[in-house]
Amino acid sequence: MMKFLDQFKQKNKKFYIKWTVIGMSAIMAALAALWLYINDWDAQQSMKVLIEAVTIEEPATEAPKEQVIKIPESKEVVEEKPVTEELTEEIVTDATVYREDKELPKDPTIINGVLLANKQHPLPDTYAPGEVPEARTAFEAMKAEAAKVGINLNAFSTYRNFARQKQLYESYVAKDGQQAADRYSARPGYSEHQTGLSFDIGESGQEQHWASASFGDTEGGKWLAVNAHNYGFILRYPEGKEKITGYMYESWHFRYVGKDVATQIYEKGITLEEYLGVN
Ligand code: DAL
Ligand code: ZN
Repeated sequence: MMKFLDQFKQKNKKFYIKWTVIGMSAIMAALAALWLYINDWDAQQSMKVLIEAVTIEEPATEAPKEQVIKIPESKEVVEEKPVTEELTEEIVTDATVYREDKELPKDPTIINGVLLANKQHPLPDTYAPGEVPEARTAFEAMKAEAAKVGINLNAFSTYRNFARQKQLYESYVAKDGQQAADRYSARPGYSEHQTGLSFDIGESGQEQHWASASFGDTEGGKWLAVNAHNYGFILRYPEGKEKITGYMYESWHFRYVGKDVATQIYEKGITLEEYLGVN
């Protein structure tokens, strides 16, 4: 039986191959015809759709890759660079602005032998020299000279320690608000009065002009404006120099810097910051 079946298989092999090839070709032709029919018998369109269907995955995986790389790069440029530039510009050009991130230093700033205290150069909270005797001696000499022309000078506020300045500043903030107070009162650690070299000067009997711009228009104020440098004092916060000194005009606030430096500053009509070449 098995022998008979083997003979039958050999005899009909060619027959099976022939009809398998014919059958498969017929199926492929039928599928091709169906594909052409779906694409309106347009052979070019049929090929295009077939290629797109095979390659459709590729662009989908490339697009997200581009986004992942580019988004963080553009964030760095937009957020970090302009902020740094704005901050630098503010510090360099406007002395009225405090650096909020700045801590009080361990030592005071001394430039060419001159002690500097302003909004950009604070003092240690422990810096407490008291009123400097050399400055007091110079004031007394100036007072004696002014008395000769009937002007009775009075230094109504000189050395103030850190705690006193804190108390004063906080009372001004409570009264006028911080923005206004910052224009005429130093924050604790930033006041020149803490150096022991600053003298707020008025005239005895003219108390209504003490710590007021109007003092500059009195005989005493005018005398001081043109004579103080001969005793080593400068008008520390002149009119129109707020962006350089950090404070509005104070006709009564004089700072002892020594006769030489005071005379140069007076004759050039400049501020201490300009003389020292700093903010
Ligand atoms: N009035 C000046 C600026 C001070 O408080 O030191
Ligand atoms: Zn003062």
